[in-house]
Amino acid sequence: MPLTALRTFEERIERQLRLLELKKTIIERNIGRHIRLFERRRDDIGKKIEDQIRQFERKRGIRLDDEVRFIRSWIERPLSIGAVTPSSKMLARAMARYVDPHSDGPVVELGPGTGPVTAALVEAGVDPSRLVLVEFNPAFCRILRTRYPGATLVQGDAYSMRRLLETLLLQPAAAVVSGLPLVTKPMRQRLRLIRDAFDLMLPGAPFVQFTYSVASPLPRRLSGFSVEASERIWMNIPPARVWVYRKI
Ligand SMILES: C[S@@+](CC[C@H](N)C(=O)[O-])C[C@H]1O[C@@H](n2cnc3c(N)ncnc32)[C@H](O)[C@@H]1O
Repeated sequence: MPLTALRTFEERIERQLRLLELKKTIIERNIGRHIRLFERRRDDIGKKIEDQIRQFERKRGIRLDDEVRFIRSWIERPLSIGAVTPSSKMLARAMARYVDPHSDGPVVELGPGTGPVTAALVEAGVDPSRLVLVEFNPAFCRILRTRYPGATLVQGDAYSMRRLLETLLLQPAAAVVSGLPLVTKPMRQRLRLIRDAFDLMLPGAPFVQFTYSVASPLPRRLSGFSVEASERIWMNIPPARVWVYRKI
């Protein structure tokens, strides 16, 4: 290629690159503006919900502290919390029903939040000293520590349960009950979680998971697993279903 043609070619490429750079800056600025707008609206919405709850409390003469704490945490990290309010008593009891209170070994709860499912497990006869609660939200951990002083509380990432619990559990777990918002995670990570859970559990022990979504959060046809589902539980915001997986 002659020298002048090469220069022209180089100049054309440089022009294109400058144009691309400019477009990239504009796109980044736009994204930034949208994020700031969303954050402002998210805070406003959160404040409005909180004000309405406080008004409701004043009218009825009740306190809804767990709901307010939950909403605050949801506003800060919507995807990790995965719910705007704690589970209802109906849903919590439906989860607890799958755990045999007379079985042997620890009962692990992943993502207990403010503890509605924990309360249902204790109400169903599970001794609090058998409970191992894995929660990463420090505000929820403080609540759980005061409400369930007899339980073992692990403040950490439930998706690292193998590392967190391997040496802590002295016996295989009798059940794993999960309130984690599984569907916000890629399928590979969900499958790793349940495989890790089964490695820490007795054969045939239940992995109990609730979800708001219509479909099972784990594949229904998975070799070596049995799957069952509860009826939809309408008395919950939003309505939910309990899925139980066992290693066969
Ligand atoms: C949908 S809420 C359910 C809370 C409670 N089980 C209930 O039924 O009301 C999900 C809970 O899982 C916790 N969580 C989410 N991801 C987690 C993780 N990777 N490790 C530990 N806890 C997690 C959240 O902080 C929250 O408490």
